[in-house]
Amino acid sequence: MTAFHPAVDTPYGETPAATRARLAEVLGRARRRTAVLTDAVTDADLRAQHSPLMSPLVWDLAHIGNQEELWLIREVGRREPLRPDLDDLYDAFRHSRSSRPGLPILDPTQARAYAAAVRDHAMSVLDTTPLTGDPLVDRGFVFAMIAQHEQQHDETMLATHQLRSGEPVLTAPAPPRAGRVVADQVIVPGGPFVMGTDTDPWALDNEKPAHTVMVPTFAIDRYPVTNGRYAEFIDDGGYTRRELWSDRGWAHRAEAGLVAPQFWDRDADGSWWRTAFGVRAPIRENQPVVHVCCFEAEAFARWAGMRLPTEAEWEKAARFDPATGGSVAGPRYPWGDADPTADHANLAQRHLEPADIGAYPAGASALGVEQMVGDVWEWTSSGFTAYPEFAMFPYPEYSEVFFGGDYKMLRGGSFGTDPVAVRSTFRNWDHPIRRQIFSGFRLARDVD
Ligand SMILES: [Fe+2]
Repeated sequence: MTAFHPAVDTPYGETPAATRARLAEVLGRARRRTAVLTDAVTDADLRAQHSPLMSPLVWDLAHIGNQEELWLIREVGRREPLRPDLDDLYDAFRHSRSSRPGLPILDPTQARAYAAAVRDHAMSVLDTTPLTGDPLVDRGFVFAMIAQHEQQHDETMLATHQLRSGEPVLTAPAPPRAGRVVADQVIVPGGPFVMGTDTDPWALDNEKPAHTVMVPTFAIDRYPVTNGRYAEFIDDGGYTRRELWSDRGWAHRAEAGLVAPQFWDRDADGSWWRTAFGVRAPIRENQPVVHVCCFEAEAFARWAGMRLPTEAEWEKAARFDPATGGSVAGPRYPWGDADPTADHANLAQRHLEPADIGAYPAGASALGVEQMVGDVWEWTSSGFTAYPEFAMFPYPEYSEVFFGGDYKMLRGGSFGTDPVAVRSTFRNWDHPIRRQIFSGFRLARDVD
């Protein structure tokens, strides 16, 4: 079915000139962030591999340029290739992350010059491309896709910074603090709801099409699970009680030696500390826990007598409005269609850690669920599957080749996600063992 969602209500129901200006802004914002992340360290550091899970930062930088060249310069602009010799080196599917340092990749000076040259051409393509007609360019889709791609790599580069040892090089103000809040639950009424989108011009293929799903009544936490609660789980034997873990989770726990979230350590007095971007500090009790894998989230949920939400439940909690009912598609963000501001959500690397729960009342969904967008990616219990009548667009390697793989879906974005790269319908996925990403969770339960 098609959801009713008037175009004038989206932030992008605007003139081509306004769309062009918006695209120039999001592309420029992505590049400024890429510069912050890559200029913060030495050339030697850019070339280093800080973890076998991650590429050298300089690989990400030139890969960002190469994807932009492929799509904006060649595919849309129909212009001569700048560096066709680079296509193989920067094809993420041809070379595993761990093998990338051994490739004859561009050095930092060359990578910066290449990305800048591509951007110059891309901006002239943007100036001369009609943003109507072909679905690839309609309302600026492919330009926004490239901005999202760069921001996704920027978040990956931020995770690389977190894995890097040495003196801190990134700084940001502390996130907003909140007073005491009651970590209660919200009842989400059962019935139909419209999942996914047909109308968001910058949504990626896996978010489409809009379709109605029946979701029985359930309860969901108003806030993500906090460090304080997670420490209680650890102290109650959470990591040593077999009955709390799935078979796979238990095996992984033993093999990986999991005893606490990644980057936590315990002082002699028993207090928990965490290290973020080279700074070690006591954990904040009311801050959402971050850097846990899906298996840890599942074990915590069982300990708490609850479970992870499904992807459909998560999206319904974010978008369903009892005032309009289940036949109307919800807004782009939990709070509405307005672009995120600093009052709505902790996004865009504005801060280098999650904010306390209760810090963003203005970002609540219609049902009153808070901090769904920003702070931490939230694990769900769902695997990665296509929505009914999914149509691959514009290339199978964005989503289609991952369907049915060993992944769990994550929703909502983190403090390291840019607004252009997240919305209530946005779907992220990763292996359930991963925790170098900015991942946390919230809990749900059945309601009879
Ligand atoms: Fe990529």
